[in-house]
Amino acid sequence: MTTLVASGKTKELYTTDDSSVLRVHYTDHTTAGDGLRNELIENKGAVNNEISSMIFTYLNENGVATHFIERVNETDQLNKKVEMIPLEVVIRNFAAGHFQKRFGTDYLQTLKEPVVEFFYKDNDLHDPIVTKSDAIGLDLIEADKLAQLEKDGLKVNQILTELFDKMNVTLVDFKLEFGINEDGEIILADEISPDSCRLLDKDTNESLDKDVFRKEAGDMMPGYLEILNRLRAAI
Ligand SMILES: Nc1ncnc2c1ncn2[C@@H]1O[C@H](COP(=O)(O)OP(=O)(O)OP(=O)(O)O)[C@@H](O)[C@H]1O
Ligand SMILES: [Mg+2]
Repeated sequence: MTTLVASGKTKELYTTDDSSVLRVHYTDHTTAGDGLRNELIENKGAVNNEISSMIFTYLNENGVATHFIERVNETDQLNKKVEMIPLEVVIRNFAAGHFQKRFGTDYLQTLKEPVVEFFYKDNDLHDPIVTKSDAIGLDLIEADKLAQLEKDGLKVNQILTELFDKMNVTLVDFKLEFGINEDGEIILADEISPDSCRLLDKDTNESLDKDVFRKEAGDMMPGYLEILNRLRAAI
């Protein structure tokens, strides 16, 4: 017996025989503009399932504790069940998106050092940005755990920047989500895919990620497949 326990905009979570393990199903749903646009893009779920599986395996092998166990079929993977921390951790190497808008920078302005931002995961509030002080004051997380998210986020950034460099891809920015496992430890959860990262071909600066969909600039799948193929060659 397998039961749907939760679903979000792009993934469905099912129980397994092991109460500490979830089967996560990657759907073809693709959203933008705070979920206002939601379209089915054929094969996206399978491609993101494989990309996220490869990246999480690589992180596991490189000393980052994650929820990833194994990919079980085209669209599904097994993940350790965690209690999600209600924060999105965004790491930026170059200015884009909300950051570019907020500070009026040029697109891809180089940041002197990686920027770490936290957003409060609350759909009704549209995931507002929170300072560290906000997050602690609101009791969203304890100070030591918040410091660990920042440290882990920067470590993931270092590992992935090097990996993408080998693939001739610039890692502009990305979003992480963390959770607490059965032993009370913080581990990396959710997904890492072209849905959650800005990835540019280094030669052309062409987007190989969801920005193609956000900007309604054509079919985003060739970029996603390019990332998958370059990952297969790199790891
Ligand atoms: N290992 C895990 N254990 C429990 N929940 C997880 C795990 N990994 C991811 N999740 C949660 O699964 C849910 C479904 O993912 P999905 O990406 O579809 O959600 P979303 O629509 O982006 O965001 P949300 O539902 O958080 O607003 C999310 O709430 C995500 O935080
Ligand atoms: Mg999501």
